[in-house]
Amino acid sequence: MSEPTPYERFGGAPFFEALVHEFYEYVAVDPVLRPMYPEEDLGPAERRFTMFLEQYWGGPGTYSEERGHPRLRMRHHPYTIDPEARDHWLACMRVALSARNLSAEDDAELWTYLVSSAFAMVNTMDLPEA
Ligand code: HEM
Repeated sequence: MSEPTPYERFGGAPFFEALVHEFYEYVAVDPVLRPMYPEEDLGPAERRFTMFLEQYWGGPGTYSEERGHPRLRMRHHPYTIDPEARDHWLACMRVALSARNLSAEDDAELWTYLVSSAFAMVNTMDLPEA
C-alpha cells in the first residue's frame, strides 16, 4: 500500500471544490478583492483555482492540461497585489478552510502553503517615503 497523497487525505475533489467555492463566496462580497477579478462571472476563476490546488496536492493534472505551466506569479502580474489585497485573500481563505473538517496537521500543512504562496504573490509594495 502506498501512502495516500495529500489530495486524498484532505478529501479529494469534494474537499477542494467546497473549499474554493466557499472562498469565492467571500471574494464575491469583498470590497478589495471583487473589483480585481476581470470576469463578471466568478465561476471560471473558481474552476481554475480548484483545478490548480487539486493538481498541486497530488490530484488530477487537469489544470496543466488546460492551462499549461502554472507560472502563478506571472499570471498575477496584471493585478495589483499589495499587502492589503494579500491579507483580504488570506482572511477569505482562512474562514473557508476553517469550515472544513481537516485534522490539525492537515490544516497546518495546507495553511502554511497558502500563506507562503500569498506572500509570494505580492507584486506591489507601498513603501514609506525615504
Ligand atoms: C495574494 C492574493 C491573491 C490575489 C489578490 C489573487 C487574485 C487573482 C486574480 C484577480 C486572478 C484572476 C482570476 C482568473 O481569471 O482566474 C487570479 C487567478 C489565479 N490565482 Fe490568484 N490571487 C492571489 C493569490 C493566489 C495564490 C496564493 C494562489 C495559489 C496558491 C493563487 C492561484 C491562482 C490561480 C491558479 C489562478 C488562475 C490562473 C490561470 O490559470 O489563469 N492566487 N488570482
